[in-house]
Amino acid sequence: MNSYRSIEWKKDRLVLLDQRRLPAEIIYIELRRYEDVAEAIKSMVVRGAPAIGATAAYGLVLATHQMDSEDISIVRSELEKAADLLRSSRPTAVNLFWAIDRVMRKSADPLIKSVDSLQEVVFNEATAIALEDVETNRQIGLNALDLIPEKVIFIHHCNTGALATVDHGTALGIIRTAYEHRRDVFVYVDETRPRLQGARLTSWELKQLGIKHKVIVDGASGFIMANEKVDLVTVGCDRVAKNGDTANKIGTYNLAIVARAHEVPFYVAAPTSTIDLSIFSGNLIKIEERSSQEITHIQGQQITPDNIEVTNPAFDITPAEYITGIITEMGIAYPPYEESLNKMVDLAEKKRINK
Ligand code: MRU
Repeated sequence: MNSYRSIEWKKDRLVLLDQRRLPAEIIYIELRRYEDVAEAIKSMVVRGAPAIGATAAYGLVLATHQMDSEDISIVRSELEKAADLLRSSRPTAVNLFWAIDRVMRKSADPLIKSVDSLQEVVFNEATAIALEDVETNRQIGLNALDLIPEKVIFIHHCNTGALATVDHGTALGIIRTAYEHRRDVFVYVDETRPRLQGARLTSWELKQLGIKHKVIVDGASGFIMANEKVDLVTVGCDRVAKNGDTANKIGTYNLAIVARAHEVPFYVAAPTSTIDLSIFSGNLIKIEERSSQEITHIQGQQITPDNIEVTNPAFDITPAEYITGIITEMGIAYPPYEESLNKMVDLAEKKRINK
């Protein structure tokens, strides 16, 4: 059990751990309006694909309470407005859209006649999304165990731990599960420029878990692989296309190429909610471009000359051919991904229906 939660619903409000301030300060912010939830996702108070999905779902819960009206058509129209705003907060992580669509589908039931029941349905679905996320992540960790030797060296990119999810994490969850199962674990943590999710957040989580690690600059992975036996690269993802091409934090593609050059297996941890079968290949995934300040400044200090041009894609696409396997809560998908990913999504849907 962690001493912190990235997201927590408390009575009538959403509480988020402000990840922009970590590790220097542990500050929770309380949100009562969906507009503030959208802003918190945009400004990365909360980040990581599964975490922003669950956060948006709770944003919709807030939307059902904001109008203070007994007229269900007024509350429904506010809910639609909230869904649109939340959808526009970040474009790449499909979990955001998946979670919003899931709540909106439930709320569209014509049998819901009162505001009270609408509020209840939306709350129950948001809670289900949050609880399922934890179960999913633990299962991803267990599904990966057979791949992990007794003594193991990982390289991990970005942050995919409890902070990036509702709890436990995906790729970092695999590392955590391996450690809990008494594997002798060591992790090289990519610092992850420009937002430093690795240096700030992953090392913060690993330190608390007592897992041995060293932070490296993103460009060091080639040198490390050339000089040491790295067993596995594990990364998370924001969207996996039907053919297995994977969008994840900028730098993931470079890491995959370096891993291939050194014959190090490269695994993506993906809850099935991150698989987007409606998109055939990675070149159709929208990549978020973030502010140039993230590159020109470090902690408010300008590091580049004035008026230079910058491009700041927040994610890149790793072509499926570089990915050894995609570890989901339903099992491990191997190439050809069109077939195996379809099977994983199908199994997850069946499981949900049978619950
Ligand atoms: O920009 P971020 O910090 O939201 O990017 C996060 C990542 O790229 C993660 O690897 C991904 O969302 C998976 S988190 C379990």
